[in-house]
Amino acid sequence: MAKRQLVLAVDVGTTKVSALVGEGRQDNELAVMGIAATPVVGMRRGLVFEAERVALAIRDAVNRANSMASTEVSVAAISVGGEHLKITPGQARIALRSGSVRAEDVRLVIQKACQVKLPLDHEVVQIIRRGIGVDGFRGVMDPIGMVGHRLEAEVFVVSGLSTVLRNLRRVVAMAGLTPVSLVAGARAAAEGVLGDDDRQLGVVLLDIGGGTTGVTIYRGGHLQHLGVVPIGGEAITADLAVGLGVVAAQAERLKLEYAQIGSLGEGSVEVHTVNGQSVKRIEFAEMKEILDARIEEWAGFVEDQLRLVEWAKGPAAGVVITGGGALLKGMAPFLQTRWGWPVRIGNPKGLQGLSDLSRSPGYSTVVGVARSLIGPQAERPVPEWRSRLSLFMARILR
Ligand SMILES: Nc1ncnc2c1ncn2[C@@H]1O[C@H](COP(=O)(O)OP(=O)(O)OP(=O)(O)O)[C@@H](O)[C@H]1O
Ligand SMILES: [Mg+2]
Repeated sequence: MAKRQLVLAVDVGTTKVSALVGEGRQDNELAVMGIAATPVVGMRRGLVFEAERVALAIRDAVNRANSMASTEVSVAAISVGGEHLKITPGQARIALRSGSVRAEDVRLVIQKACQVKLPLDHEVVQIIRRGIGVDGFRGVMDPIGMVGHRLEAEVFVVSGLSTVLRNLRRVVAMAGLTPVSLVAGARAAAEGVLGDDDRQLGVVLLDIGGGTTGVTIYRGGHLQHLGVVPIGGEAITADLAVGLGVVAAQAERLKLEYAQIGSLGEGSVEVHTVNGQSVKRIEFAEMKEILDARIEEWAGFVEDQLRLVEWAKGPAAGVVITGGGALLKGMAPFLQTRWGWPVRIGNPKGLQGLSDLSRSPGYSTVVGVARSLIGPQAERPVPEWRSRLSLFMARILR
């Protein structure tokens, strides 16, 4: 009997750590055996600020996911978030001496394509294959055994600030885990919710988190762009707290219960003041003004990212919004009207097992991280020595 391949994925988000224990099944489906989320303090905009507290949250989420699955997996793929993430395209071509493609040719051409110039303070997080070609025929899925003279590869090298990555690795170790690979959270969210059709037609995926918004764009089946905007749902909560004079917990509750982009009607709601002594009336009109200002700023940041890609007609599969922030009422219609593209909320897909528990936009990233470890396109982890080597190479290439 084939050995079961258990995987552990951890998404260290700004507001919560999610952990998922699962198993790869046929057709690239992921069987979820345990899933848990623990609120975290000590993260800001996707970065670790208070190591001890973040490590505690990671340990808690992983323990709960493991106990749900009756497992003790401690080797994990970890998401990396934050605005510092950068993608650099790389390409290479090699001659096929034997006249056909062998596995070592593919390894060699990818290795060469990855030798890109990175900023001095960056190291490699992840390597994403964009395509392999033989004698100019691009987009070959499985080139091994194909006959030809030249093998070409295009990759994206995802890199991040060394200090940020070191701190992330440190908290993961403090939580008792061994990281097998780091993966860009924004891309993982996209892999968690998108289908092949979306990627083929062209799609924009927005992972609207607490501290950040990941923007991932696919076209013709391949990744075109990945960027992270340093604004998420927490900014709205903070604005409501300051603007309405209520504590953060109350502002968060008001947001979840009443906030709506675009058409927050007439009316008001009563909340207790900070010291709880008296009651305060909050007019919806006042809330709307605060919401609109922040959403306008957020949309502007996202549009800066969208402008980095040339569009003939826009993404044919439209825009998919995910992450907890996608649940803000009125978000999808607001974007649809603003951009004139279809917009839908994306939930994690291709799941078996505890799929109902996992089917929430807040779990898209952890599902995508788990998916990076299973199936035929399972990403080869970038070992730490390799990241550092790239850093060294980048210095030499400068
Ligand atoms: N029903 C809802 N309506 C409005 N906002 C919501 C709702 N549910 C969750 N959110 C918001 O979603 C945000 C958290 O989303 P998510 O869990 O995806 O973030 P994260 O992964 O922790 O952060 P990041 O991806 O930025 O590092 C919070 O700001 C929360 O207020
Ligand atoms: Mg997130």
